[in-house]
Amino acid sequence: MNFSGPQSTAVTAAPVGTADLTIVGGGGHVGIPLVLAFAEAGFRVNVHDINHDVLETLQSGRLPFIEYGGEALLAKALEQNRLVFTSLPADISPNGPVIITIGTPIDEFLNPIRKVVQDCIDALLPHVVDGQLLVLRSTVFPGTTDWLDGYLARKGRNLKVAFCPERVVQGNGIKELKETPQIISGTTPAAEEEAAKLFSAIAPELVVVKPREAEFAKLFNNAYRYIEFAIANQFYLISKSAGLDYRQISDAMKRNYPRARGIPSPGLAAGPCLFKDTMQLAAFAQNQFSLGNAAMLVNEGLVLHVVDDLGRRYDLARMTVGLLGMAFKAEIDDTRASLSYKFKKALASHAGAVLTTDPFVTTDPELLALDDVIKRSDLLILCAPHSAYRDLDFAGKPVVDVWGFLKKANVIA
Ligand SMILES: NC(=O)c1ccc[n+]([C@@H]2O[C@H](COP(=O)([O-])OP(=O)(O)OC[C@H]3O[C@@H](n4cnc5c(N)ncnc54)[C@H](O)[C@@H]3O)[C@@H](O)[C@H]2O)c1
Repeated sequence: MNFSGPQSTAVTAAPVGTADLTIVGGGGHVGIPLVLAFAEAGFRVNVHDINHDVLETLQSGRLPFIEYGGEALLAKALEQNRLVFTSLPADISPNGPVIITIGTPIDEFLNPIRKVVQDCIDALLPHVVDGQLLVLRSTVFPGTTDWLDGYLARKGRNLKVAFCPERVVQGNGIKELKETPQIISGTTPAAEEEAAKLFSAIAPELVVVKPREAEFAKLFNNAYRYIEFAIANQFYLISKSAGLDYRQISDAMKRNYPRARGIPSPGLAAGPCLFKDTMQLAAFAQNQFSLGNAAMLVNEGLVLHVVDDLGRRYDLARMTVGLLGMAFKAEIDDTRASLSYKFKKALASHAGAVLTTDPFVTTDPELLALDDVIKRSDLLILCAPHSAYRDLDFAGKPVVDVWGFLKKANVIA
């Protein structure tokens, strides 16, 4: 089956067979921006996902989570009949490339779970045809792409296999897909060439490397970012142990000093990717990825440090603590692997009560209104630096702000 590029705009409902490509996991955080980018580029996209709720939400013209700039593109794609929705492998489009964007978690031993990819491929295999391009876009353990190539060959299948990792930042995928060079790799020249042709339709620049190089490039990108956050968090902790205000030091280090411009602010380094991908690299390196492992200790330990510090300064058992921002980072609604929940758990055994709020999160029934949390709390912790919190009046209550985000007046740490 040859990939022949986008078809012209349709005006009637499109059968699945007319799709130009399939995105498996097309209702996920990586899948949706990619679906919309290809649809905007004129492709008819088979959005394939096992989550029916997400597909129904998309079909009704809504996004299941915040993806800035996504709603207008979704409306346009639906109006132009560029999306075809499927949830059973047997129903996927027989045409064009199949791009895999499913989640690739680590297990309780912090090791990758290759079976997730294998199960997904096994389910799709009877419904793809030899010659079709299979693109892994999920972040994978080094060697997975070559393993998949061998696995398919051992099953007597002759699919083209590529690995083209996603590198956009969550929530801003629509914008970043237009700006971010796309890493391309394939297990054969034909796979590489077809993957390059596919992504040249949506990416500003292609970087072609070998599959192993692409796998490491993606993991190194994320581990590097995680380590950057860890060094900022460690600087913060060292300054604090010296009795100093890290804001002052940070300003002195960075202001008009180009070599320090990239140092991030301290804060909760959380979410579904950075920790997981750093641990994938650590697993690859037989836990000898000393900087990555150290970054994990610092980033995960920050929460415990703050709770311990508060326990020394306050009689927490008599206090109500309010947590501001339960998403894993600012301006999004995603709570996956959010360290705000680590705060909540850690404080549950020390504080009289813990209250939580977030202007974006819609999936946590325990969240309260912001005013309510400020009114009822004796002490507040800024967990996610949503812009709505920046100029708030905290009614003179102490606030912990490791980010250095709020006005100095109320901040105690
Ligand atoms: N979230 C990010 O910003 C980001 C950025 C770059 C890379 N990544 C990587 O991309 C991958 C996906 O991450 P995500 O955040 O989009 O995950 P996600 O959980 O938001 O999305 C995955 C989607 O795949 C669907 N799915 C799972 N198994 C399936 C199957 N067998 N068939 C069809 N659909 C299936 C799920 O229902 C879900 O909608 C991961 O490897 C992640 O590390 C994520």
